[in-house]
Amino acid sequence: MKVKVCVGSSCTLLGSMSILDQIDDLKDIISEDPDNYNDEELEVEAIKCLGFCKDTDKNVAPVVVIDDEPMYNATSQTVMEKIINTIRK
Ligand code: FES
Repeated sequence: MKVKVCVGSSCTLLGSMSILDQIDDLKDIISEDPDNYNDEELEVEAIKCLGFCKDTDKNVAPVVVIDDEPMYNATSQTVMEKIINTIRK
């Protein structure tokens, strides 16, 4: 599973660094409990402005892209839920 977290200025201002921290914590939780998660590797990338904020007048930040599917106005909770629901056995 590939997770891209935007760390451009708009997304950082609205909390993307905290989402990155939470994903790091989740990676630790997964590695300590391998029986409950599938073997899929969780690849996390921090990217400076994914461009979504420039395509629209709407406020979309923070943006997180999970396996090519963008999540707008992402929160730690919505991102964790999406990741866990996908990789939990
Ligand atoms: S700063 Fe995040 S999409 Fe532009």
